[in-house]
Amino acid sequence: MNRRLLLPCASAFVLLTSFTGCGKNGDGGIVIGEFASLTGKEATFGISSHEGTLLAIETLNAAGGVLGKKVELLTEDNQSKAGETSNVVNKLISKDGAVAVLGEVASSRSLEAAPICQQNGIPMVSPASTNPKVTETGDCIFRVCFIDPFQGTVMANFVTKTLKATKVAVFTDVKSDYSKGLAKFFKEGFIKNGGQIVAELDFNGGDKDFKAQLTAIKSAAPEAVFVPGYYTDVALIAIQAKQLGLTIPLCGGDGWESQTLLDIGKDAVEGHYFSTHYASDAASPGVVAFVSDYKKRFNGKVPDAMAALGYDSAMFLADAIKRAGSTDSVAIRDALAATKDFEAVTGKIAINAQRDAVKSAVILQVKDGKFKYLETVAP
Ligand code: PHE
Repeated sequence: MNRRLLLPCASAFVLLTSFTGCGKNGDGGIVIGEFASLTGKEATFGISSHEGTLLAIETLNAAGGVLGKKVELLTEDNQSKAGETSNVVNKLISKDGAVAVLGEVASSRSLEAAPICQQNGIPMVSPASTNPKVTETGDCIFRVCFIDPFQGTVMANFVTKTLKATKVAVFTDVKSDYSKGLAKFFKEGFIKNGGQIVAELDFNGGDKDFKAQLTAIKSAAPEAVFVPGYYTDVALIAIQAKQLGLTIPLCGGDGWESQTLLDIGKDAVEGHYFSTHYASDAASPGVVAFVSDYKKRFNGKVPDAMAALGYDSAMFLADAIKRAGSTDSVAIRDALAATKDFEAVTGKIAINAQRDAVKSAVILQVKDGKFKYLETVAP
């Protein structure tokens, strides 16, 4: 992507309004677009973030809406496929007249949407994409989560200090911007701690057979393996590692977080560790209220991190629209950028100069078929 082609938010907005006029959202509601992986490989990401987002919008509307108007959430499914996000995001902006866009969880798909939102001057808020490049796209792009330089360091320190490992292998999904970035930041942190990377192997998200790479990893004799992948691949990797007698701890990041990791991985994922954004069993009043509301709305289901971040992304946007006092895209953008102490379920959100949220991470362990909270790490 040629960054010089990307217009700053304000000038893009002027162009857009002068050519097309604004306010396609004719029936009076505030149109917010959402794109998510509701089906396909990472469907649990999209289903969870969408449910959290929907709960937020319903809660807002039940309390009278935003600026006295109803919020209309228009949701599009990108089927977890590369290439599909541009279609749906173009539609949300050009046809549906969304004043802002919420999405995505997976960094590669947020990176596909971000230049489109930037070129159109439409603010985009990613709930959960942690690759730094997402918000580097331009001044219209925000997120309500931490970024991978932080997450990678958190796990490097955990592996060094808690697991006391000095030799580690890294197993990266080369199809995923998230995985490549997190692997890089983990390695930098671990080497800085005096650790040694004894093997670096690659896979392609969606692969089914990881035995060749796992055999190479085993022969390098690491004390732990860092696998910054998504849950389905990680579960298969854990199963095959166990079959090969590779019984050292596997560690990863937020991409592990899905009930599906436990359903597929079963006893092969027991004891392994990952970092993520929040723990549903935390005692803070915000988390307790959110978990109870979400369970009521979605048949007793416990919200995962994507659900909590989806909820936070919509509430964060609504708060900015209220402070902006308008649905003008530039006013919304400025209000988003000025957010300094928004109380979200996943922690207080302060937006920094890079339009990222500075927040704590939590480390969880798979224990007795569940995710067990171990510790919180502040930035
Ligand atoms: N951070 C991951 C990415 O950028 C997505 C993710 C977020 C996955 C939260 C699970 C939980 O691709």
